[in-house]
Amino acid sequence: MAKVAQEMVTNAGVDVQELVRKLVRAAAAEFTTYYYYTILRVNAIGFDGEGLKEIIEDARLEDRNHFEALVPRIYELGGELPRDIRAFADDAACPDAYLPQNPRDMKEMLRVLVEAERCAIRVYTDICHMTFGKDHRTYELSLAILNEEIEHEAWFSEYLGDGPSGHFRRSAPGESPYTSRFLVVPNGHNHG
Ligand SMILES: [Fe+2]
Repeated sequence: MAKVAQEMVTNAGVDVQELVRKLVRAAAAEFTTYYYYTILRVNAIGFDGEGLKEIIEDARLEDRNHFEALVPRIYELGGELPRDIRAFADDAACPDAYLPQNPRDMKEMLRVLVEAERCAIRVYTDICHMTFGKDHRTYELSLAILNEEIEHEAWFSEYLGDGPSGHFRRSAPGESPYTSRFLVVPNGHNHG
C-alpha cells in the first residue's frame, strides 16, 4: 500500500475515500462504455455509418485505456474494484450508451455517443478540480484522460453539424496520445 502517497493526499485536504469513490465510478463508466461502444461500432455501417466507424473504434479503445490507467491509482489510494461486476456496472458515473431502438438511425447513434463523451468530460473535470494542487498524480492522470474525452466529444459533435473540430485522425486506432504513458502494458503502437 502506498502509505506515504495516501498521507500526502490526505494532508493536502483531499477526502481520499470520496476521491476513490469517484475514481471507481469513473472506471466503471469507462468499462461499460467500452462494452456499449463495441455494439455501436459494429452497427455503424452503410453510407451513413461507415464514416463513423473509425472514430467510434478510437473512442472505444481509448476508453479501455482509461480503465486500465485508472485501476492502479485506485489501489494505490487504498481502494479496490467491486468483487461483482454487476455492482460495478450499476455504479458507473455515466448512463448506459445503449444502441438506439432503430440501429440504422445514425443521428440517434451520434446523440448517444456525444452524450457519453459529455458525461465523461464532466466526470474528469470534477476529479481535476478536486485534486488540482493537492493530489498531483491523480490530477495528471485525470487531466490526460480529460484531454482525450474532449477530443472524442469534438469528433462526434462535428458529425452532428456543430462545426469543425479542428482534428484529423489518430495515427493508429486507440492511440491515446495523452494517456498511453500511464499504461503499464502499452498496446505496442503506443509511446510513439
Ligand atoms: Fe474515456
